[in-house]
Amino acid sequence: MDRYTVPGLDEATADKIIEMLQQRLNATIDLQLTLKHVHWNVVGANFIGVHEMLDPWVADVQLMTDAIAERIATLGGEPMGTPGYVASHRTWDDYKLAKANVPEHLAALERVYDGVIGDHRKVIAELDDLDLVSQDMLIAQADKLEMQQWFVRAPLER
Ligand SMILES: [Fe+2]
Repeated sequence: MDRYTVPGLDEATADKIIEMLQQRLNATIDLQLTLKHVHWNVVGANFIGVHEMLDPWVADVQLMTDAIAERIATLGGEPMGTPGYVASHRTWDDYKLAKANVPEHLAALERVYDGVIGDHRKVIAELDDLDLVSQDMLIAQADKLEMQQWFVRAPLER
């Protein structure tokens, strides 16, 4: 198949960016599934607040996933989105809780967001010298993800 990328980028640089974006794609696919899993399994006091809070976030993260995948394709890469690929190429453990109460899930989700946001920020910094267009997309996503983490964290504060 013919190789191409966007104007102004050489193929080696495009490959580097694609690899970074694929990691972010793995993370956002994992996050959207994990948020639904929590939506289904959270119980106890304040159940309804958390249950209903999570669905719009799933929609937000699905949009992020789509944007990253389409950026990979735009750069000439192949976005990999199958469950088997994502599970075998991630660097973190599967979410551990199933049915559990609100504080337990929020504490676990806070750690999930630590990982996703921390890695988003690392890639944002690395893209500084590589591709400002991809960087801009991830910055906008980090803004949303950090706000979501605040919502997870705030009820845990004393
Ligand atoms: Fe639902």
